[in-house]
Amino acid sequence: MNKNISIKKEKTALITGATGGIGYEFSQLFARDKINLVLVARNQEKLKQLSEQLLTDYGIKVYVIAIDLTKPAATQSLHQDIKEKGLTIDFLINNAGIGNYSLFVDADLNDLTNMLALNVIALVQLTRMYLPEMIQQGGGRIVNVASIAAFQPGGPKEAAYFASKSFVLAFNRALAVELKGTSVSSTAFCPGPLKTGFAEQGGLVSTRLYRYLAGDIQKQVAKAYQGMLKGKSTVVAGLINKILAFSGELPPRSIALSVNKFLLNK
Ligand SMILES: NC(=O)c1ccc[n+]([C@@H]2O[C@H](COP(=O)([O-])OP(=O)(O)OC[C@H]3O[C@@H](n4cnc5c(N)ncnc54)[C@H](OP(=O)(O)O)[C@@H]3O)[C@@H](O)[C@H]2O)c1
Repeated sequence: MNKNISIKKEKTALITGATGGIGYEFSQLFARDKINLVLVARNQEKLKQLSEQLLTDYGIKVYVIAIDLTKPAATQSLHQDIKEKGLTIDFLINNAGIGNYSLFVDADLNDLTNMLALNVIALVQLTRMYLPEMIQQGGGRIVNVASIAAFQPGGPKEAAYFASKSFVLAFNRALAVELKGTSVSSTAFCPGPLKTGFAEQGGLVSTRLYRYLAGDIQKQVAKAYQGMLKGKSTVVAGLINKILAFSGELPPRSIALSVNKFLLNK
């Protein structure tokens, strides 16, 4: 079966969290390849601005859907909305995600619940909704945005966030095995620290991790895009990120936990 999806025929990519750092970069790469887009985020105005830029610069078809993916039944509503527009999805980029930077004891319960709803539940639901359609269409590509945090034994001050990204990586690894030899692939993209809106949440940008190790977003997303087209199961871009990911898996786990505690402080 064809593992290398053709990008010649008119195709459509669905990107969640399209208006922010990583999602925005994905939107530019798809548009450059003349792939039509369905862009999802909460802020309608930012979606409109992005769609106008993509239309002007690349002349592709762009649909925007403003929706809060933490809300109950949001993914079902999104799926229905896309169906009613008569669109089929060839690329699904499960990118929207938020962090929660604080000692766990101080974390707001609603914020934690919303984070897990977005980072874990919405991602799994959208994958489950679009995978059968991709198989039926004869091909597709899924990207699940995890993090190099996913390889770590834990992240003090980001306990639930790190665990949510480990979920994404483990989920994707198993899915990639299930999809081996089919025309659909699923790629876990594991970015290192990047100075986006995400990093500004709770002042994460002034932690040692972001001060010392923040990377180049365009290079990282370009690697993810290429990896997705090749059907890779995991993409970790850049030597420093590869070292951080690899060292997170080395025993004893107490060392990585201490290093993470150091890096996640200011
Ligand atoms: N930046 C990093 O250092 C880093 C490192 C590793 C992994 N990641 C992962 O990369 C992904 C993207 O992060 P980013 O750095 O690009 O973040 P970002 O710049 O803050 O962008 C986040 C995007 O998600 C949208 N979004 C947020 N909450 C949403 C919700 N409830 N429903 C729908 N859309 C929502 C935002 O738009 P609205 O606010 O308008 O909804 C925005 O478009 C996340 O999964 C994150 O965990 C980031």
